[in-house]
Amino acid sequence: MQKLMIEGGHPLHGSIHISGAKNSAVALIPAAVLADSVVSIENLPTISDVETLASLLEDIGGSVSYDGSKMDIDPSSIVPTPLPNGRVKSLRASYYMMGAMLGKFKQAVIGLPGGCNLGPRPIDQHIKGFEALGAKVTNEQGAIYLHAERLTGARIYLDVVSVGATINIMLAAVKAEGRTTIENAAKEPEIIDVATILSSMGAKIKGVGTDIIRIDGVEQLNGCVHSIIPDRIEAGTYMIASAAMGREVMMNNVIPDHLESLMAKLREMGVSIETADEQVRIATPSEITSVDIKTLVYPGFATDLQQPVTALLTRAGGTSVVTDTIYNARFRHVDELNRMGADVKVEGRSAIINGRSSLQGAKVKASDLRAGAALVVAGLMAEGVTEITGLEHIDRGYEDLEEKLLDLGARVWREELTSSEIQQVKSS
Ligand code: EPU
Repeated sequence: MQKLMIEGGHPLHGSIHISGAKNSAVALIPAAVLADSVVSIENLPTISDVETLASLLEDIGGSVSYDGSKMDIDPSSIVPTPLPNGRVKSLRASYYMMGAMLGKFKQAVIGLPGGCNLGPRPIDQHIKGFEALGAKVTNEQGAIYLHAERLTGARIYLDVVSVGATINIMLAAVKAEGRTTIENAAKEPEIIDVATILSSMGAKIKGVGTDIIRIDGVEQLNGCVHSIIPDRIEAGTYMIASAAMGREVMMNNVIPDHLESLMAKLREMGVSIETADEQVRIATPSEITSVDIKTLVYPGFATDLQQPVTALLTRAGGTSVVTDTIYNARFRHVDELNRMGADVKVEGRSAIINGRSSLQGAKVKASDLRAGAALVVAGLMAEGVTEITGLEHIDRGYEDLEEKLLDLGARVWREELTSSEIQQVKSS
């Protein structure tokens, strides 16, 4: 077990290459199950979620070759093996195996998803969609059993705008008979990426990126080659880190349109931002101003950036209020920030940040992926050394975190935990 050490106070400058999007990758890999021949996915991030999903495909008979960036998946020998436990529990996105296996085999058994603990994360809208397509869905001893004689297109209205439900229903519907319409669909760029790979396989999908998606089922899907979009949340995290500690940082391999809401808020704080085709340049003034932020579904401010931006706002002059309308319990980073000297209170769904705190290095624990990102941002700003445990969360989503930060001039390294530290981490 390791901890991440950050000696704070060193300004960031230089350029950084953004990796392929985690939240696309975790849907594109299951999508490959639907094809009858080899699917190649390029520009995958080297993160543990990708490796876990590749192993899941192997568990059900898929043949996978992966060089750390390109994955070739031959799904021709995949069989609908039940996946009730084990690896499937370690990441939430394993729920995409439900839609993909149901679409291909009309049956699946998948353990209820794990992943980051952000409060209750129901999957009722996924199930509503599968049932509308004709599947019988039961929950037995912590696993979801799905079975359909046939899948028939249906009109499905999502009661909650959900990224996962929109993608999962698309995966199940692409081979259903007739037309499926998803109303009140989510519009995140990762959904467009999934629709793009499915279309390259031969699926017929229209309206992705709007709130009504129409899918006309086809009998067969073929292999294809697909290159994944850049990770807007990774880019956003480094933009926030640059706003916290940067002199001038250039982000390469970014789609600036995907980051409009973050850029608007950073500009309000006084950060200077220039964009080009696939680049964003950030230059930070010596002082930044407080802002209020509300997370919303895309194209609103991403909930995944709420935690890192809360860390940034501890250095702003004045009081900021950050409200998370997507997850009501995504505030487990706040106690850790306060340990470092921040002044943040949680009231309901909002974090109230009294700014201009001088953060001090401390021993802190990442409780989930983006809480980890928030602690990294705080560690970069803090005086002295910050020690972050819970790295398994950070490693699920950030490729080469230390290397990228070192390239920008940060002082970061990993150390092995002593046995007494391991006991402390386990009991906390
Ligand atoms: N919801 C329901 N019922 C459902 C599905 C969702 O009530 O059936 C609620 C959720 O509880 C939440 C809201 O709807 O309050 C939105 O959830 P959504 O389904 O959109 O989230 P998700 O698909 O589970 C993905 C990302 C998350 C990201 C959210 C919101 C992946 C693998 N995960 O989760 O990413 O926060 O969308 O944008 O794509 C992360 O990357 O750190 C992360 C947690």
